[in-house]
This record gives sequence, structure tokens and C-alpha cells, in this order.
Amino acid sequence: MKYIAVLGSEGQLGKTLQYLVNQESCKYKFYSKQDVDITNRQSIESAFAQHSFNFCVNCAAYTDVEAAEKDNKEAFLINVEGAKNVADTCREKNIKLIHISTDYVFDGKKRTPYTISDKTNPINEYGKSKLKGEYCIKEALKEHYIIRASWLYSVYGRNFFKTIVKRIGENNSLKVTTEEIGTPTSCIDLSHFIFHIVNEDNLPFGIYNFSAQGSTTWYGFAKEIVKNLYPDRQTNISPTDNFKTIAKRPKYSVLDNIETQRVYKKFKKWEESLKEVINKLID
Ligand SMILES: NC(=O)c1ccc[n+]([C@@H]2O[C@H](COP(=O)([O-])OP(=O)(O)OC[C@H]3O[C@@H](n4cnc5c(N)ncnc54)[C@H](OP(=O)(O)O)[C@@H]3O)[C@@H](O)[C@H]2O)c1
Repeated sequence: MKYIAVLGSEGQLGKTLQYLVNQESCKYKFYSKQDVDITNRQSIESAFAQHSFNFCVNCAAYTDVEAAEKDNKEAFLINVEGAKNVADTCREKNIKLIHISTDYVFDGKKRTPYTISDKTNPINEYGKSKLKGEYCIKEALKEHYIIRASWLYSVYGRNFFKTIVKRIGENNSLKVTTEEIGTPTSCIDLSHFIFHIVNEDNLPFGIYNFSAQGSTTWYGFAKEIVKNLYPDRQTNISPTDNFKTIAKRPKYSVLDNIETQRVYKKFKKWEESLKEVINKLID
């Protein structure tokens, strides 16, 4: 029987894994920030002493892109030192690490999907901290899977999808930016890829891109959410190319999944995955 430790289990990806895990045959143990603080090596070691884990899935991270601009110390503490602590402890205990990174490691200057060998050049503090976290993991531990995901959403926590559902549910009108192009990716789809890595247990180590298929803008994503949930309120959403944020965002961050498709076939179009998440909302 394989044992898997999931860190950061109360975030949206951690909660999605918890929701889906009863269909899995391996034993998953979930650790919230209160159970395991990844900035504290001792607390990771105590958790890892409880079982002989085969894998660790690190969903713990500092994810507030806007706040990271002012609070970069905390972002780097969690996304760099924390990631290093996890990787170091995994190495000592002979545990394979599945770590989640981001499309924000790129600067967005390309106009074709980013491959895993494209040059990284993050343009905000969050992206810089996540990239440095990747370096620390690669240096500390050979047995790693770093999954670069993009525009994650789910019915849990705070995310763009939930904001749109709430605001349009209250019949507000919203202006949504057309300035960035990327791919909304459901935490359900990413969870299934994580399960695949664990279950196969023979995928080559390294970096994997993971997103749904296709691309859109945040405006396009919002329109599609509203079209599915509140078809009579589609005019509540209007486009803007002048949405002010503190953090710079890559204008284009579509990921090329071609390498990942060699080992995993179940990619869906983002619109199709969105319908699945909306159905869960309505359940
Ligand atoms: N959200 C996106 O659009 C997106 C896109 C691409 C990649 N990613 C990456 O995907 C992963 C999962 O993201 P998510 O959207 O599920 O994020 P999330 O909902 O913000 O979850 C992150 C979790 O980590 C916890 N955490 C923070 N500091 C911690 C610490 N020191 N020790 C242990 N846990 C800690 C948080 O707890 P508190 O909330 O209590 O602080 C939260 O429960 C992250 O690595 C993120 O960088 C996210």
C-alpha cells in the first residue's frame, strides 16, 4: 500500500484532492497549515515520522499575487524556504515530491504556448518566489515532479471563478480584463493528473506543464461562467483593457502540454472542465 502526504490541504487544490480521494486505492494523509507549517522543518519531520510515505504532494504556498508585491518576504519564506524544507525532508526520508508551480514563471512576451524548455523570466514577486522554489527543489532532490499549472479554479476557497459566480449571482455588473491570455484550469483535472503520477509511479522526474486545452482571457472566462450559470445576465459582464493591479501579470501564459501528453492522455477543453465544476456547484 502506498502512503501519500498532502501538505497545504485546506487550499483549493488540497480540498479538491480530499474530495476526490475516496476513489483512489492509495492512502492519502492530509495536513493543513495548522498541522504542518512548511516554513518549520521540524513540523514536516514530525508529520513524515507518522508513516512511511512514498509521495508528498506539496499544495502549500503563498498564492496572493497582489499581496506578494508588498509582502515579498513572506512570499519568499513560504514559496522558497518552505519548498526547500519540504524537498530536503523528502530527500532524507526517500519520498518522491510532487510540487505545484505556475505559469507566472514566464514573462508573457511569447505568442505561442510555453514549453517546459522555454526561458523563464517572472515579472512579479509571486512568480519570482515560485521560480526560486523550483530551483531549490531541483537542487535538493532528484525525485521530483514540478507541475506548472495555470489559472486554477474550483468551488473551494477564493478564486476568480467563485468571485464571478458570487458577483453575478447578486446581479452586479462587472468589467473584466481582456489584457491577459491564458488557460483556466480546474483543480479537478489537476488532481487527476496528480493521482496518475502516484498510481503509475514510473513517470520520468522533472517539470511538467499542466493546463486544460485552449485559451482565453479573464473576460472570456467570465463570459463562459455566466453563459452557463446565468444565461440571462450575460450583458452584466463587459470587457476592459485598463484594469489596474499592483502586480504585473504576463500578457500571455498559455502552457504547451505536449510533453505531458506523452504520459497522460486525459486533457479536456477548458470550457468542458468548467461545465463539470459548475455541475458540482449546482449539486
Ligand atoms: N491559484 C492559482 O491560480 C494557481 C495557478 C498556478 C499555480 N498555482 C499553485 O498551485 C498550488 C496550489 O494553489 P491553490 O490555488 O490551491 O492555493 P491556495 O488555495 O492559496 O492554498 C494554499 C494553501 O497553502 C497554505 N499555506 C500557506 N502557507 C503555508 C505554510 N507555511 N505551511 C503550510 N501551508 C501553508 C494556505 O493556508 P492559508 O490560506 O491559511 O495561508 C492554503 O491552505 C500552489 O503551489 C500555487 O502556487 C496556483
